[in-house]
Amino acid sequence: MDRTVGLVGAGSMARALVAGWLGGRPSLPAGAVWACNRSRDDRLAALAAMGVCVTRDRAELCAAAPTIVLAVKPVDAAAALRALAPHLSEARHLIISLVAGLPSRAIGELCRLPGLPVVRAMSNTPSAVASAATAIAAGPAATAEHLETARSLLSAVGDVIVVEEGDLAAVTALSGSGPAYVYLLMEALHLAAGRMGLAPEVGRRLTAQTVFGAAKLALASEHGPRELVRQVASPGGTTVAALEVLDARGFSQALVDAVLRAAERAGELALAAAEPRPQGLE
Ligand SMILES: NC(=O)c1ccc[n+]([C@@H]2O[C@H](COP(=O)([O-])OP(=O)(O)OC[C@H]3O[C@@H](n4cnc5c(N)ncnc54)[C@H](OP(=O)(O)O)[C@@H]3O)[C@@H](O)[C@H]2O)c1
Repeated sequence: MDRTVGLVGAGSMARALVAGWLGGRPSLPAGAVWACNRSRDDRLAALAAMGVCVTRDRAELCAAAPTIVLAVKPVDAAAALRALAPHLSEARHLIISLVAGLPSRAIGELCRLPGLPVVRAMSNTPSAVASAATAIAAGPAATAEHLETARSLLSAVGDVIVVEEGDLAAVTALSGSGPAYVYLLMEALHLAAGRMGLAPEVGRRLTAQTVFGAAKLALASEHGPRELVRQVASPGGTTVAALEVLDARGFSQALVDAVLRAAERAGELALAAAEPRPQGLE
């Protein structure tokens, strides 16, 4: 099987993927990664220095690579797909789209190839340190083998879980936007550290390691979050005093409401992207 991958877009996500595929212990052979970009040749040069074959020619990219990873911003997706379409074939190519909110059906329509296999992926910014939470979903023309190709490629930047395409709005709200909720929490902890007189560097390191360690323990533990909270909070102690303040201020409910609103917004954006006006995506 030809494992050659073609990246469309040479930005942050492309760099993180290439580092995973070709750096350290490479998971792809030399010459198996191709990339093109819109205008910034310096980004292509950076990928070339990592061992990627770079080109400006979409025909060359699509001829070299049966798997194409679409790594452009949502606003650029329609133009990128139209430029690729003449060089794609339903029988040979798989599109792995990292573009939030663009349904697999719309990708087929934009390429005028309704039977084009598409796997959509929703990743998050910790992909930059190979610790992403990524969910992938098969479009109607994608097979189990296509899904496995996507899972294997994206596991280079973190954990990958398979969901239904209809769940991607919820995934976007939870793990796509999720790092922002955690950083906001961290910012509040920094503020509290400063108010208590801790030096900024001390507050920063203790906060980051606390979040990292809590997440690591949650992943390793057989217990759910309620039990892990209980393990920190002794009756009458400091944690219970803090939790009472958080409860009184509606901390948990505010987070639930925020995530539900993000999911609603992801649904609105997906509907707009799926409208039968391909030009409107640009
Ligand atoms: N970065 C992350 O951790 C992350 C996490 C979750 C999801 N995502 C998703 O992944 C996608 C890529 O994100 P990113 O952060 O890598 O974006 P980025 O850093 O802005 O890179 C996007 C790249 O796409 C290129 N591009 C635009 N139009 C193109 C076209 N028509 N043909 C070829 N290349 C084109 C741009 O070229 P120029 O350099 O010439 O402008 C740029 O290099 C987005 O849809 C984003 O939502 C990213």
